[in-house]
Amino acid sequence: MAKRTRYNGEFRKEHIGEKVTVDGWVQTRRDFGGLIFIDLRDRTGLVQLVFNSSDNAEAFELASSLRQEYIIEASGLVRSRGEGLTNPNLATGDVEIAVDSLTIFSKAKTPAIYVDDSHKTSDDLRMKYRYLDLRRPSRMNALLLRSKVTHAIRRYLDNQGFVDIETPYLTRSTPEGARDYLVPSRVHEGQFYALPQSPQLFKQLLMASGFDRYYQIARCFRDEDLRGDRQPEFTQVDLETSFLNDEDIQTLTEGMIKAAVKEALGKDIKTPFKRMPYDEAMDRFGSDKPDTRFGMELINVSDIVADSDFKVFRSTVEANGQVKAINLKGKAEEYSRKDADNLSTYVAKYGAKGLAWVKVEDKGFKGPIAKFLTEKEGDLRKRLDAEVGDILFFVADKPSVVAQALGELRLHLGHKHGLLDESQLNFLWVVDWPLYEWNEDEQRFDAMHHPFTRPANPDPQALIDSPEKARAIAYDIVLNGYEIGGGSLRIFDPKMQEAMFKVIGLSQEQIEEQFGFFVQAMDYGFPPHGGLALGLDRFVMILAGESNIREVIAFSKNSQAVDVLTDAPSEVSTLQLDELALKLRK
Ligand code: AMO
Ligand code: AMP
Repeated sequence: MAKRTRYNGEFRKEHIGEKVTVDGWVQTRRDFGGLIFIDLRDRTGLVQLVFNSSDNAEAFELASSLRQEYIIEASGLVRSRGEGLTNPNLATGDVEIAVDSLTIFSKAKTPAIYVDDSHKTSDDLRMKYRYLDLRRPSRMNALLLRSKVTHAIRRYLDNQGFVDIETPYLTRSTPEGARDYLVPSRVHEGQFYALPQSPQLFKQLLMASGFDRYYQIARCFRDEDLRGDRQPEFTQVDLETSFLNDEDIQTLTEGMIKAAVKEALGKDIKTPFKRMPYDEAMDRFGSDKPDTRFGMELINVSDIVADSDFKVFRSTVEANGQVKAINLKGKAEEYSRKDADNLSTYVAKYGAKGLAWVKVEDKGFKGPIAKFLTEKEGDLRKRLDAEVGDILFFVADKPSVVAQALGELRLHLGHKHGLLDESQLNFLWVVDWPLYEWNEDEQRFDAMHHPFTRPANPDPQALIDSPEKARAIAYDIVLNGYEIGGGSLRIFDPKMQEAMFKVIGLSQEQIEEQFGFFVQAMDYGFPPHGGLALGLDRFVMILAGESNIREVIAFSKNSQAVDVLTDAPSEVSTLQLDELALKLRK
């Protein structure tokens, strides 16, 4: 093996006349009688090789046996492609390498999937042959981008005095609200480790130790229903600090994100990011992670329609429900009665019992419920800024259903009608969260984030007396409608921690059992602290312009949590089960 001179994508005019060696994968072979052209690929791009039968018969002979994806080394002279033969679409398009010696390192079967970006292959097939899939420039670039992002983040945090510390993967359950992945212990029959849902408790303990600024690019494991932005194992940029307030932590995070975007895309983003209270996000966008790249906000019209002739609206308001509407401006013409009615199936997914709509026309409202709204038309038009050509959609239900159904419809219509600039990066902090959410099934309060989040009111008794009023010093970071991170200040007063556990219904025994080690640590001195975790996969997915985090994870799982490449999960031998003292139920 000779020494490679440089990467294939780096050849330029100034290298003409150099004697060089290149390595790579055969992208294409083109034969023209006594001439063979090879496009040779590596992670940086392509360079053209030329074999001429009259210059070098031996190399030419070997070159005619080359097939797609063979891995070769070639040495030769860099020369100009000559008048009219340059390829302006290729970075190396001015030059070619006239090869005089060729080595074939590895032959390849016809690839099981296309190794170029012009074909669409099913996701599972791509992931089964992921090593081939990743040869495609667009797929490879997504991972190269990810590497740049992590590098920039590490550099930034290092400069800010953060200490990189690892925490265990074989550990105890951490309460982030998902199911745990369990690992049976061989040494301790019948006992299990849990894989961490996040390093939350460990990073807080590191603050107790005095590390002051911790970070870790940590793998987290959550057994939950999967979708495009969720994987069973994913990566957080996890950080924790002592003696800082929430705004300090947000500022640090903004700096980190700015550095990452600059490194990855060369773009300067504006900081500080906008901040929006949780209640306002829910009210205006029906979401705790609003996509604020476009308007079409949810408008409350309950007061206007409270005594309308449309029974659904009237009775919903009477029952303390809500009626809200969105105005799809200027698109009425694009909706037949059937199209508009069909959207009710869309909102039904989110629990809405129906979707009422009217078109705004010269003569007034038009549509199935228009006749019920005649008297209210003026008020509705004013509130909804409705003009001729608009179509208005209404949902009447309890506030949580209205928010979700209309919020999702807003997004659906926004994308469908191209109301947002897909290339924009729109960052937003959602702040001032409720501390708890009511769990209807279990009839109890759950922590909205996790039970170490600091309440805004420092009085533990107030928490116990009226948990429904408690606010959290918590903040989520949203990018283009995705929650890309979340954090909070933490409880550091043992009395407050006890009150917190009490409200979520943990008995003294359960606290001892699950969090004994943590509660005990609080008695030995705990600094005021707080932090955040950035979902690295989601962040990189958006920067890469992808819509599924699988594309920015080298080896991922499908929506059934199956790794189709290695075919995991899989059955294990009886011997392995015996060693673990486990028996499968038939
Ligand atoms: P949280 O649970 O909000 O907070 O997680 C932080 C961020 O991690 C990302 N994320 C995921 N990404 C891909 N797949 C998943 N299944 C998945 N689940 C979460 C999201 C999310 O915003 N310990 C706290 C952080 C803290 O308080 O410091 C925590 O884990 O982008
Ligand atoms: P109905 O009276 O059931 O024929 O419904 C008349 C229209 O009102 C239909 O377009 C329904 O989709 C719509 N509708 C029914 N229930 C609701 C609701 N809760 N919110 C909004 N629209 C509704």
